[in-house]
Amino acid sequence: MPADRGHWEQHFAAGNGFHRPDAREMRLLGEALGPHHGARALDVGCGLGTYAAALAGLGHRTLAVDWADAAVAATRDRYADLEPRLEVARLDFEDATARLPRAAFDLVTMRLVFAFMADKEAAAERVRALLAPGGAWVVTTSLAQWLPEDRRRIGLTAAEVGGLLCGWSRGHWYDLDPGVLRVFVLRAPAG
Ligand SMILES: C[S@@+](CC[C@H](N)C(=O)[O-])C[C@H]1O[C@@H](n2cnc3c(N)ncnc32)[C@H](O)[C@@H]1O
Repeated sequence: MPADRGHWEQHFAAGNGFHRPDAREMRLLGEALGPHHGARALDVGCGLGTYAAALAGLGHRTLAVDWADAAVAATRDRYADLEPRLEVARLDFEDATARLPRAAFDLVTMRLVFAFMADKEAAAERVRALLAPGGAWVVTTSLAQWLPEDRRRIGLTAAEVGGLLCGWSRGHWYDLDPGVLRVFVLRAPAG
């Protein structure tokens, strides 16, 4: 069962964060994406904003969104100095009425987020509509098979990975930390 918004509000209000991206993670991402300076990125489920800030640091004009007010406030507060390269907005990515520009992003990232989407197929469709031709969707996630039974819902099942990989013209993955975190890099057709 996906965690609801109240869960995340409480999580951030209690001062909790997540496994922070480090220099190696961002170097591997940069290598996987290739030249991208100035490209427009959307970080979905930004949490405390560390990854979105690192994307801005890589040269992306980045929009960071999260449905939790506490996450949006923390990201704005921590990274005010990165505006306008980093913008932050409150948005539920699963709300089909939430407005985001179509075909406008060269990169959409979901770090430790996709497993929590209630309708993964619809979320993938939405990403497809947001990506510019040749754009990349980067999903950083744990796999259910690596996790103890009581934590499996925070990783993707084999069937969910199968669904994730469907319908992309190109894709590859690499392990950031074998048995802990995998990064899927999926490419929209060049147009
Ligand atoms: C495990 S945290 C990861 C945070 C951040 N990406 C990181 O790597 O540190 C999951 C984040 O996704 C957000 N989230 C979950 N479902 C969402 C949705 N439908 N729309 C927007 N944000 C969502 C949560 O509020 C939370 O901040």
